[in-house]
Amino acid sequence: MALTEERTGKTYLILTYGCQMNENDSERLAGQLRDLGYAAAARPEDADVILLNTCCVRESAEKKVHGKIGELKRLKAANPNLIIGVAGCMAQKDKDKLFKRAPHIDLVLGTHNIHQLGESIAEIGRARGRVLAVWEQAERLAPGVPTVRKAGIAAWLPIMYGCNNFCTYCIVPYVRGRERSRPVDEVVAEAAELAAQGFREVTLLGQNVNSYGKDVPGHADFADLLAAVDKVAGIARIRYMTSHPRDMNDKVIAAVKAGRHVCEHFHLPIQAGNDAVLAAMNRGYTTADYRRLVAAIRAAVPACSLTTDIIVGFPGETEAMFADTLALMAEVRFDAAYTFLYSQRSGTPAAVMADQIPPAVKKERLKRLMDVQNDVSLALNRELVGAEVEVLVEGESKNDANKMMGRTRTNKIVIWDKTGREAPGDLATVAVTAAQTWVLKGRLI
Ligand code: 5AD
Ligand code: SF4
Repeated sequence: MALTEERTGKTYLILTYGCQMNENDSERLAGQLRDLGYAAAARPEDADVILLNTCCVRESAEKKVHGKIGELKRLKAANPNLIIGVAGCMAQKDKDKLFKRAPHIDLVLGTHNIHQLGESIAEIGRARGRVLAVWEQAERLAPGVPTVRKAGIAAWLPIMYGCNNFCTYCIVPYVRGRERSRPVDEVVAEAAELAAQGFREVTLLGQNVNSYGKDVPGHADFADLLAAVDKVAGIARIRYMTSHPRDMNDKVIAAVKAGRHVCEHFHLPIQAGNDAVLAAMNRGYTTADYRRLVAAIRAAVPACSLTTDIIVGFPGETEAMFADTLALMAEVRFDAAYTFLYSQRSGTPAAVMADQIPPAVKKERLKRLMDVQNDVSLALNRELVGAEVEVLVEGESKNDANKMMGRTRTNKIVIWDKTGREAPGDLATVAVTAAQTWVLKGRLI
């Protein structure tokens, strides 16, 4: 093989849908293309390879991808040598059905096959045919794959792949397979490499980070991993997602409290505030368990922030059950909530449950939920006016080059007038002068 670093003059474009795990997978797709001599394309019209890294967690995500696949037909007609690939969760779920639906697709690459992009592209080049690379399950942990990350101060760092939980609404366990943890030393080595590259923050990624290590007998657990990454020189902040409330425990709470760099932010998806709904979802905890957990976290880490995910319109959710969710939101007072309309995913148990909720009812509930949450978010942010907060400077504000943007350890966005004294990657102190629902405004100290 010729030297892989050589430039071929060819270019690629990767479009990413869905979660942070997909963003990291896209970084690994980009790394393989770079090693094949491809550079990033400036415009879709110029690209030799276009990859869609897809999500199927909700129907809305799939619709976006199908729309984009349709659009790409025009580019393929203009340039028959263009290679169009579909990777990720939809590829894993739909496999060769994607070729039938859209014959202009050249490559379908499953979630367990991300590392095979290079050989798949070579095979398409040799045979000028289509390639379907979808393993039913990971034969082993994905090997180390070259990664191209966007320059910045925060990086994604996967610690485990897959999910064993089978929440009844969720497609993820079917398309991402069983839980597989990366060894501690591998995660620590990657964190150190990221620090050496100038990254200041890492977010440890997994579908359920609290079950880290449980797939390997005698393995370190998530609290041990947090403690190990906390020692990596140069990493100023450590975040992680997502936690499962059933598996969050005192040892992890203590590790967050003890970790110098571990941020005081807990993202704990509750999904619903009614016990019958939680049981039907197979979540493995009750609202009383969740309240106890929040109390334990707030007792140990008083200045923490708490965010959540909520699904409205799960099958069988009555108005009274939904009212329980609203009441719990008002009681717990989340800093922010990511709220979703329940989406029927075929193959999951909830898809065939009785009493599916009509779309209009779901939408109306979502609106009420967001109204309650926005009031709480604003009230909590207002409590910070007058306080001084530590921000990690990210860069200029997207909307205004005279302003700077950073985040607090509790993951709140802060905007302030640029002084010229702050540089991306710095830890700075900002006095909060005003609060909005999603952002804090302040002055650099
Ligand atoms: N419908 C709506 N939301 C869903 N989520 C997962 N599956 C579905 C579905 N079928 C939400 C959950 C999860 C988040 C990442 O996506 O709230 O925490
Ligand atoms: Fe889906 Fe539940 Fe696994 Fe999260 S924990 S990915 S919601 S099955």
